Amino acid sequence: MKITKICCIGAGYVGGPTMAVIAQKCPDIQVTVVDLNTDRIALWNHEDLNNLPVYEPGLDAVVAEARGRNLFFSTDVDKAIDEAQLIFISVNTPTKTYGSGKGMAADLKYIELCARQIARVAKTDKIVVEKSTLPVRTAEAIKSILDHTGNGVQFQILSNPEFLAEGTAVQDLLNPDRVLIGGDQSPEGQKAIDALAEVYMNWVAPANIIRSNVWSSELSKLTANAFLAQRVSSINAISELCEKTGANVSEVARAIGMDSRIGSKFLKASVGFGGSCFQKDILNLVYISKSFGLVEVADYWEQVIIMNDHQKRRFANRIVQTLYNTVADKKICFLGWAFKKDTNDTRESAAIYVAGHLVAEQANIGVFDPKVEQPQIIFDLEESGVSQNSRKRVTSYEDAYQASEGAHAIAVLTEWDEFRHYDWQRIYNNMQKPAFVFDGRNLLDGKKLTEIGFVYQAIGS
Ligand code: UDX
Ligand code: ADP
Repeated sequence: MKITKICCIGAGYVGGPTMAVIAQKCPDIQVTVVDLNTDRIALWNHEDLNNLPVYEPGLDAVVAEARGRNLFFSTDVDKAIDEAQLIFISVNTPTKTYGSGKGMAADLKYIELCARQIARVAKTDKIVVEKSTLPVRTAEAIKSILDHTGNGVQFQILSNPEFLAEGTAVQDLLNPDRVLIGGDQSPEGQKAIDALAEVYMNWVAPANIIRSNVWSSELSKLTANAFLAQRVSSINAISELCEKTGANVSEVARAIGMDSRIGSKFLKASVGFGGSCFQKDILNLVYISKSFGLVEVADYWEQVIIMNDHQKRRFANRIVQTLYNTVADKKICFLGWAFKKDTNDTRESAAIYVAGHLVAEQANIGVFDPKVEQPQIIFDLEESGVSQNSRKRVTSYEDAYQASEGAHAIAVLTEWDEFRHYDWQRIYNNMQKPAFVFDGRNLLDGKKLTEIGFVYQAIGS
């Protein structure tokens, strides 16, 4: 089957950039991205491309090229489902906050709603593609809903996990290491896989498109993220040992990264990993393992999360201890709030948890992030359970100079490149003395800061 019309349900960090790139690379395919959130769709359609709801370097140019040609953003979900031959589901799947599996299992209510809507609306055969990160065997649940409540039309369910990293989404989509498509082993399933593969073959080499059964595909996504997160927790565990022994974690990372079996990526010690995927996917893995009675497997992966939580707490404690065991009513400047550079996404950002620990010690926090503003920061704190009184202690500023004015310390939470190029002498002059820098990303030049007069502490040294 030749695909000419695609619909994507969910215009977020995954659906938006992915569909923009598909539309750019496949001008003959009509791509419609739908979302229930009217504000979000309005921003995707807004003529000012600086205000797209998802910030990704290079995304504005891709949207500018394809939007209105063969890329459309709409709130009319039913119409888009009805017209499409292929439907991507890219809705959010947060960790459950209630009931059985609370704090661990993925909340599939948005997925289920999508499946029911597709079942209700579809009048012709459809290929339904899971794009959201989902627990293993979700495709089976989607299939069951579609087959039992549909209008007698045939559905093929594919798993096509997203491997893009935020901040580099456009590049990752244009040059993927691999595209993975899982499908039913039946002839119809294979045909559906071929149809989706053909879409990608407009710009991805066939050798980089791999096929598997649905469950392998679903599990591969969780496993990839678990392995990546595990590397960060591993180097973070070593960072604590470095701080005690006088070794330097960056030197250790460099030395082990040159072993080609280990490789140099994902070895940067930090204040802890964040983002919408790592923690959620590992919790999923832990939950599934437990549900099969695999206690040791569950404990093994859970340790990656335990280490990450420890790292965030440890960073906050180090600030308190260094500032003479009290931060009460002192101003701490946060450089960065997003979970990594080049994104406006703050989900699970280490900054939220470090801020939570510090306001509990009655510190005041002045935040500057190039892409995140006050309402999002307050929302994040509220979501993570910080009380209204404590939230009042957190204020966002227009730039780093204002955020650090009168501060006792600076904490670097996100590795935005621009932080390197600031007038650090000017920042120093306007801070309380002694002025501290806690570099949670090992981003800045410690030697230069020390020469200015800062007391500088990096992670893992
Ligand atoms: C991740 C996967 O990389 C991607 O393939 C998947 O599709 C979604 O999840 P993402 O969460 O966007 O992508 O960002 P990633 O670059 O993986 O970083 C995750 C977190 O780990 C960030 O907070 C980052 O700062 C942190 N990290 C990463 C480190 O602390 N050290 C490192 O060496 C690498
Ligand atoms: P992700 O990082 O997985 O892309 P986001 O939260 O950024 O997650 O995006 C998911 C989007 O899916 C949100 O904009 C949300 O409004 C949308 N969404 C959730 N459920 C539905 C639904 N049933 N129909 C349409 N859109 C939905």
